[in-house]
Amino acid sequence: MTRVLIAASECVPLVKTGGLADVIGALPAALAGEGTEARVILPGYPAVLSRIGAEPLGKAGGATDLGAAPGLDTAVSGPARLLAARVGELDLFVLDAPERFSREGGLYETGGRDWPDNAERFAALSQAAAGVAQDGVTLGDGTTWRPDVLHANDWQTGLAPIYAALRAAPSTARRVPSVLTIHNISYQGLMDAALAPHLGLPPAGFGQGWEFHGRLGFLKGGLMVADRITTVSPGYAREILTPEFGMGLEGVLKSRETVLSGILNGADTAVWDPATDAAITSPFDATDLAGKTACRDALLQEFGLEPGDGPLVGLVSRLTWQKGIDLLVEALPRLLSRGGRLAVLGSGETGLETALRNASHAYRGQVGVRIGYDEALSHRIFAGSDAVAVPSRFEPCGLTQLYALRYGALPVVARTGGLGDTVIDATPAALMSRSATGFVHTPGDADSLAHAFDRLADAMADAEIHTAMQRSAMDQPVGWGPSARDYAALYRGLLG
Ligand code: ADP
Ligand code: GLC
Repeated sequence: MTRVLIAASECVPLVKTGGLADVIGALPAALAGEGTEARVILPGYPAVLSRIGAEPLGKAGGATDLGAAPGLDTAVSGPARLLAARVGELDLFVLDAPERFSREGGLYETGGRDWPDNAERFAALSQAAAGVAQDGVTLGDGTTWRPDVLHANDWQTGLAPIYAALRAAPSTARRVPSVLTIHNISYQGLMDAALAPHLGLPPAGFGQGWEFHGRLGFLKGGLMVADRITTVSPGYAREILTPEFGMGLEGVLKSRETVLSGILNGADTAVWDPATDAAITSPFDATDLAGKTACRDALLQEFGLEPGDGPLVGLVSRLTWQKGIDLLVEALPRLLSRGGRLAVLGSGETGLETALRNASHAYRGQVGVRIGYDEALSHRIFAGSDAVAVPSRFEPCGLTQLYALRYGALPVVARTGGLGDTVIDATPAALMSRSATGFVHTPGDADSLAHAFDRLADAMADAEIHTAMQRSAMDQPVGWGPSARDYAALYRGLLG
């Protein structure tokens, strides 16, 4: 049995801003089937504490108070403790450090501005993760839990492999081997280099790994030190070695290419199952799609859309440049000219929110837009849509196209990162062999997206082709099975 500590800044069903949370929430159960016992360490945000019934440094509720968090020596000046809790099938460690995490607002920002102490906040999480990994912890039943591998994720826990190395260094203690997964290389955690001593990093850090163009790079530091680096699709693993996608880190990654690999994300097929989903109007599956028609009608009504004779396209997304939302707005007239409809759920950059709102006013009854975050509505969109658009400029993996496949909504995606790895384009050959699952277009190209909408409308006009595509989409193995096996094998490969 391999033990792994997964360090992350978000996790379903406790806190989520994006796909990272879905991955961290689903991976432990998938690993359990592969002989790997995973525990997740998370910050004690208010939503996390209230979910486990705990109060900041007060009553522990359903959690066990494990006392002072090991490793936490510099990034928190006030009191802090470690809690252990179980939520569903997840075994959690929670870093209850009110000075850093007890506050209203976003996980990383408030009012559109990063928290000014993000460096301290996520250095604290990384220190606690390294402390647990190196020292182990005594659980409520008196047993000691010590992981064989430390698995950090994204910049927020990028320093954990460094702290683990520093913690092991003074003694002859074995350093716990580490994996660092890149979910999105565009977020690098670049901080003021003058903070290094305050964060317990060697002052001579320049040239020692964490320095990046005169700044302190949380992600870059981890990439230099981690024993293995993974990212969330084979396609993105290749792309980030190039200047076009590496966001300045391509050289660092090139130097570590021999330990870099891509492991595709999966979907939690228990949560995302149209046959059992309590959030949708009528259940359905690949053998009986009648329920999907009812979900479609309900979705049109919910978004105030007039029935049309073309595709009903859904979009569930953070609204950022990455996601190519502007390209969707540009290609929209073509979709509408084919009798199409668009239902949008998202939030993010003001300019993109405004562009979408404007489209819904300009094309009343044809375009419906909900600005906000709504988990249940996202399920209804996947269930009711004929197609789901993911026109990203880059996409490390992407989960919404996997959910779309599961719910028989044909993905219309850009050929990039994990999108290209998970959707089979409706080429004549793929249609003939009944393997096509969606429509793939050139990234960053609104004309190509418009053409994909044409191809979607054409395919849907032929009931036989449409049903065959829906069936092969729904039959795609989008679960965690093969990828959990890959992670388990990666961890095992690190044990001496
Ligand atoms: P990213 O992590 O880059 O945002 P992913 O496709 O990996 O992209 O994951 C996004 C996750 O967030 C999916 O689970 C998606 O359904 C969800 N999501 C994004 N925006 C919203 C929203 N406005 N309301 C509900 N869920 C959303
Ligand atoms: C990031 C990426 C997304 C990926 C998710 C989970 O947020 O943008 O493509 O699916 O992480 O790995």
